[in-house]
Amino acid sequence: MDITIVKKLRYSTANSPWVSFVKSLAEARKLVQELGSASAQTRFEHLVVATKFAGNANQMIVLPVSSETVEMVIFIGIGNISSLQAEAVRTGVGSAVKIAQHNYYHELIFDLNDRRFATVNFLQLITTAATLAQYQFTKYKQPDNNPSLKIEIALPDSKLFLAGKKAVIQAYAVGAATNLARDLVNTPALDLTPDSLVNTATIIAQSSNGTVTLSVLDRSACTELGMGAYMAVAAGAEREPKFIHLTYTPKSAGKLQKKSPGQKTIALVGKGITFDSGGLSLKPSDGMMTMKCDMAGAATVLAIFKLLAEFGAKHTLHGFIAATENMPSSKAIRPGDVVTALNGKTIEILNTDAEGRLTLADAITYAKKFNPDTIIDLATLTGACVVALGEEIAGLMTTDKALSKELLQSASLVGEKLWPLPLEPRYAELNKSSIADYRNIPTNRYGGALTAGLFLQPFAEGVSWAHLDIAGPAFAEKPLSSYLDKGASGYGVRTIWEWLH
Ligand code: BES
Ligand code: MN
Ligand code: ZN
Repeated sequence: MDITIVKKLRYSTANSPWVSFVKSLAEARKLVQELGSASAQTRFEHLVVATKFAGNANQMIVLPVSSETVEMVIFIGIGNISSLQAEAVRTGVGSAVKIAQHNYYHELIFDLNDRRFATVNFLQLITTAATLAQYQFTKYKQPDNNPSLKIEIALPDSKLFLAGKKAVIQAYAVGAATNLARDLVNTPALDLTPDSLVNTATIIAQSSNGTVTLSVLDRSACTELGMGAYMAVAAGAEREPKFIHLTYTPKSAGKLQKKSPGQKTIALVGKGITFDSGGLSLKPSDGMMTMKCDMAGAATVLAIFKLLAEFGAKHTLHGFIAATENMPSSKAIRPGDVVTALNGKTIEILNTDAEGRLTLADAITYAKKFNPDTIIDLATLTGACVVALGEEIAGLMTTDKALSKELLQSASLVGEKLWPLPLEPRYAELNKSSIADYRNIPTNRYGGALTAGLFLQPFAEGVSWAHLDIAGPAFAEKPLSSYLDKGASGYGVRTIWEWLH
C-alpha cells in the first residue's frame, strides 16, 4: 500500500507537493502567508484573480513556491457549507494526484493539520479517491520505470492514528478491489475468459481463511440442471462456459456462523459475458469494439467477494456468474429458436444479441434455490439504458421500495450515479411471445432498458430484487471524473460495499 498516515507539521517537507483543503479564499490566503514567500503571495493573488478562486467546491489553485520551504502547494476548494461536499473532496484529490503524476513527483502529501478535516470520514474519502485516481491499466504497455506515487496524509497528532489507520486500510482495500474489477474489465476477451473468471474466484476463495467457498458448474452440469436459456447463449462459444457460485459465510468466534439473528442471505448476480459479438444477430463493428466490457457486473461481484474475504460482513452472501462468450458459429443458437429456462418457462430467442437477460434469467432462478432475502443483479444489459440516462448514470429497477431507497442512498454517499427506472407492468406485455411464454426482445423498440428489466422480473418472483443496468458507467469512453479515468470504472463495487454495511 502506498498510502500512509503520518504526524507531520504543515509544509514541513520541502520537495513534495502539499495539498490543503480550504472553504474560502481567506483560508487559502492565510495559508499562503504561512509560507512566508513574497513571490508566492504575488503569484497566488494573480491566480485568484485569473481563476476567480473563492474556495468553492471544484475550484483549485496550483501554487508553485520557489522557496526552500515547499516546492508546490495545491489548494482544493470544498465550499463554505457545513455538510461535507464529499464529491468535491474526491475530485480535488483526483486532480492533485494527476498533477503530481504529470510533474513526476514521487510523493504527494495531503495536509489534515486543520482539525476540521482530521476525521476518519475524511481519511477514507482521500484514500479511496487517491487509490482510484492512481489506477493505470498498463498490462500491455512497455514498462516506463517511473516509480509509483507515494501518498502521505499528515495529521496534527496521534489521537486519530489508531482509528485512522484501520479506516485507511479498509478504504484503500475498497479502492484496490474496485481497481481489480477495472483490470478484469479492461483485459481483452482474448485473455479474459470464463476460465479466467474462475481463476480469480479461486484465488479469492483461497485467501479467505475458509469464509468464501467456490463451486463451478461446467457445460454438461448446467445442461443437466436445465439452464436452457444460459446454455443457448453459450452454444456458439468454443471457449467453455463456466457457472461460478461463490458463498461467503460469516465467522464469529472463529466458527462459521450459518444463522444468527439479524443475519440475512443476500445473492449478488453479475452478468458475465466475456465478449458480446451479438451472436448470429451480429453487432456492427463499432458496437463490438468495447464488448469486452460485458462482464463488468461479474467483475463487480468478484471484487465484493474479495472484500468479503478480507473484511467479512455479518450477512451470508452468494455470488452467481453465468460466464460465457456470445459468439456466432454453426453451433450457435438461431433467431427463432425456443428454449426452456431453468424455471421451466419457454423463451423464443428472436435476437441473439439480447443474451444478457437469458444468462441472468437462469442465474437468478438458480440463486433462488439458496433462499436469499434479497437478490441484486448488476449487468451491462442494454444500450437503451445508456440512451435514457447517458454514460455516467446507471439505472435501478426494483420490486422493493425500501431496497431502492437504500441503494440510491448508498450510491449517492460513495459518488456513484444511480437513478430509478420504473417496472411498468403494462410494458411486460411486450415480452410475451405468440409461440412461447416469453420472447427475448420486446415487440417494440421503445423503453428498452425497462423491457429488459421487466423480462428479468418474473424470474426473481417471490424475492425482494433489484436490477442495476450499468451499461453506461461500467465502461467509460471518456473520464467519469478526475479520479476515474476512461475505460473500466469498477462501477457498483463501492455502492454495494457501502450498502452491505
Ligand atoms: N451488452 C449489450 C448492451 C450494452 C450496450 C452494454 C452498450 C454496454 C454498452 C447487450 O447484450 C445488448 O446487446 N443489448 C441489445 C439489446 C437489444 C438487442 C434488445 C442492445 O442494447 O442493443
Ligand atoms: Mn448483446
Ligand atoms: Zn451483452
